[in-house]
Amino acid sequence: MRAAFIGLGYVGLTTAICMASRGMEVSGYDVDGGRMESLRRGELPILEPGLDSLFEGARSRGTISFPGSAEEAVRGADAVFITVGTPSRGDGSIDLSHVVSAARSIGRAMRSDSRYRVIVVKSTVVPGTTMGPVRSALEGESGMSCCRDFGLAMNPEFLREGSAVEDTLSPDRIVIGESDPRAGDLLLDLYGELHGSAMPPVLRTTPENAELIKYANNAFLAIKVSFANMFARLCSRIPGADVDVVMRGIGMDRRIGPSFLNAGMAWGGSCFPKDLRAIAAFARGMGVRLDLVEAALEMNSRGPSEVADVLEGELGGLRGRVIAVLGASFKPGTDDARESPAIWLAGELGRRGAIVRVCDPAARAQGIEVIRDPGRCLEGADAAVLATEWDQFRDLAPGDFLRMRGRVVVDTRRVYDPGRFGAAGVRLIQLGRGAPREQPIVRRSPGLRGHGAVPIGAVIAEYCR
Ligand SMILES: NC(=O)c1ccc[n+]([C@@H]2O[C@H](COP(=O)([O-])OP(=O)(O)OC[C@H]3O[C@@H](n4cnc5c(N)ncnc54)[C@H](O)[C@@H]3O)[C@@H](O)[C@H]2O)c1
Repeated sequence: MRAAFIGLGYVGLTTAICMASRGMEVSGYDVDGGRMESLRRGELPILEPGLDSLFEGARSRGTISFPGSAEEAVRGADAVFITVGTPSRGDGSIDLSHVVSAARSIGRAMRSDSRYRVIVVKSTVVPGTTMGPVRSALEGESGMSCCRDFGLAMNPEFLREGSAVEDTLSPDRIVIGESDPRAGDLLLDLYGELHGSAMPPVLRTTPENAELIKYANNAFLAIKVSFANMFARLCSRIPGADVDVVMRGIGMDRRIGPSFLNAGMAWGGSCFPKDLRAIAAFARGMGVRLDLVEAALEMNSRGPSEVADVLEGELGGLRGRVIAVLGASFKPGTDDARESPAIWLAGELGRRGAIVRVCDPAARAQGIEVIRDPGRCLEGADAAVLATEWDQFRDLAPGDFLRMRGRVVVDTRRVYDPGRFGAAGVRLIQLGRGAPREQPIVRRSPGLRGHGAVPIGAVIAEYCR
């Protein structure tokens, strides 16, 4: 089986290299010439754990190539994956221009190599895109007919940056939205070659369902995180409360599960924000309001300014204050800082007059100077915010923060030990943790003889006064 990838970002490159590392013949093309050059030299343009060794292996076996045009990449391929970006337009709706342009170049290539093949849309696209604009572009450029001369499939990707290799080689499931059974069969054969006896469960369906599954999946996960973030705000106000314990408690319910309940300032990254905006805008266009999605987007957009409010209150104003923001990537383990809450926070602090320093061990953030050394970032600062919980920041001791001019640390991920920080004279504010409670929350009531307890609400009201 030969596979081609048009678009070599986190999804395209990871999937291409994983397939090539399993002995499949893979070719890849990206419009970014610099990216192509570095790949030909054997250098990866993205940070993804485990990908470099697989890449080296594939290069030494000669199973991966990076030809000079999309047409060359497509020639000879049985399956061609469209893995280009689908960014937001100004109004939040999806920009499909890269997908359509990739489909056109594939269609042109099919003119000179008319074998039956399946074109696979792996990019996240709104319902109707695969059998609409993508099909039209392919048929228009190639002069061939879908479901007869070539097949079309929508095959959403669920990998997570930071564990993309593991997710690609052992996915929870494979969703195949097929134009017709022959197209689905061919794609299934290709995945059979990749996964062998460890084939994950497969859901075969219509392209429209496959497109919707991806959006519903991301919307559900983002809303789940927002749920934890919502309770974190409440926990912050309740002495003795800890959102991590509350979420662990609900995560033990098998109907809920423990994942995606780690509360923080906001969710971000290259997918959740743009995908939720895209499906909300798409639904509005159909006369449907996705209330939960809209609410999650609205609440999420407030996260960074709420953290800025905390700092402003603590410091009595932000103008001229030096704030160290620890973290720039949207989560640890990736260099991707697209739509990162840490960057949103840095922007908000800057708008309020603060002098912001951003520290991150790996992130590439356009237009922002990223300091690699936490010590240099903290030196002389008035306050620090732990925004992205890289190990390098988890490992900081209270003493590391004593090189700051001020003594305020806002920990949005609850990685620091309040006891140790308090003992060192550092004021630690943790998102989702109330102030330490001095007395037990449920006490014997003198009015209720025997086993009566004061109603918890009344006690909390008393402590919150
Ligand atoms: N990054 C993730 O974690 C993730 C996870 C699941 C799904 N997705 C989806 O997969 C798609 C790709 O995401 P990504 O993060 O890999 O994007 P990316 O921005 O990292 O990479 C996209 C690449 O496509 C290239 N490109 C654009 N137009 C092209 C064209 N016409 N021909 C050839 N190359 C072209 C760009 O130069 C870029 O290198 C998106 O729709 C995204 O929503 C991403």
